Amino acid sequence: MRIISDINELRSQMHGQNRVAFVPTMGNLHEGHLSLMRLAAVHGDPVVASIFVNRLQFGPNEDFDKYPRTMQSDVDKLEKEHVYVLFAPTEKELYPEPQEYRVQPPHDLGDILEGEFRPGFFQGVCTVVLKLFSCVQPKVAVFGKKDYQQLMIIRSMCRQLALPVEIIAAETVRDADGLALSSRNQYLSTDERAEAPRLYRVLNQVRERLLAQVKQVEQGAQQLTPLAQLEHDAVNELSAHGWKPDYIAIRRQHDLLEPSAEQVLAGEPLVILAAARLGTTRLIDNLEI
Ligand code: PAF
Repeated sequence: MRIISDINELRSQMHGQNRVAFVPTMGNLHEGHLSLMRLAAVHGDPVVASIFVNRLQFGPNEDFDKYPRTMQSDVDKLEKEHVYVLFAPTEKELYPEPQEYRVQPPHDLGDILEGEFRPGFFQGVCTVVLKLFSCVQPKVAVFGKKDYQQLMIIRSMCRQLALPVEIIAAETVRDADGLALSSRNQYLSTDERAEAPRLYRVLNQVRERLLAQVKQVEQGAQQLTPLAQLEHDAVNELSAHGWKPDYIAIRRQHDLLEPSAEQVLAGEPLVILAAARLGTTRLIDNLEI
């Protein structure tokens, strides 16, 4: 694997490659990231990964400096996955001057859910992803469903800006007890780690309750319990076990807006999204219906 930090060197290395599959990351790689590399290899050749901790997507209260940087072990893992090039630019290389041109996601998609709790986050993500695409010029790029809203926003950015990059979605990788893999899991204490799988269990409960209700309505019961009630009950369940939930939201898969009762009953594809703090660690997860 070649490790390249210079944009011009990357461009000459990639010259003539027109089936590049790209996986952007911020490093601190775990099995979830490696599954993205494997999926990339199915959809293109060669596979290029990037590691860049992107200051633009960190809020003032989110600690950019404390983000784990584990370059050597990341390199070892990527070597084993037969990644062709690791693009690991310095900040000075990617942002040699203040990044004044930025990609602003639409309000309806970028300022809800994660965007509400992390203002500026998706602007930072879109800006760096567009810039990385410009450096790597991939044919396809792989993003995990774990960051569901990020995946949707990048997809819509590519569509609206006519970027010639196909976005591939990778399923979330989970530990045996259901906890979605995340770099943040390493911050959990032993007790918190034991509690953490509740987030996914609660998402499953919301799903089961919703599906059971749809069935009852189909069998002649009067009407659907408001989705807000299901969301509220799930928030209470987490709070009762020491969590501080930011949101649990049942949304339409295609635009992350709230579905009407008619749409739910008509089988609109839905996703339940959640973000909650356990101690000082903020976890997110989601479940498609
Ligand atoms: O999901 C991430 O790791 C980051 O948001 C990304 C897409 C690499 C952009 O910095």
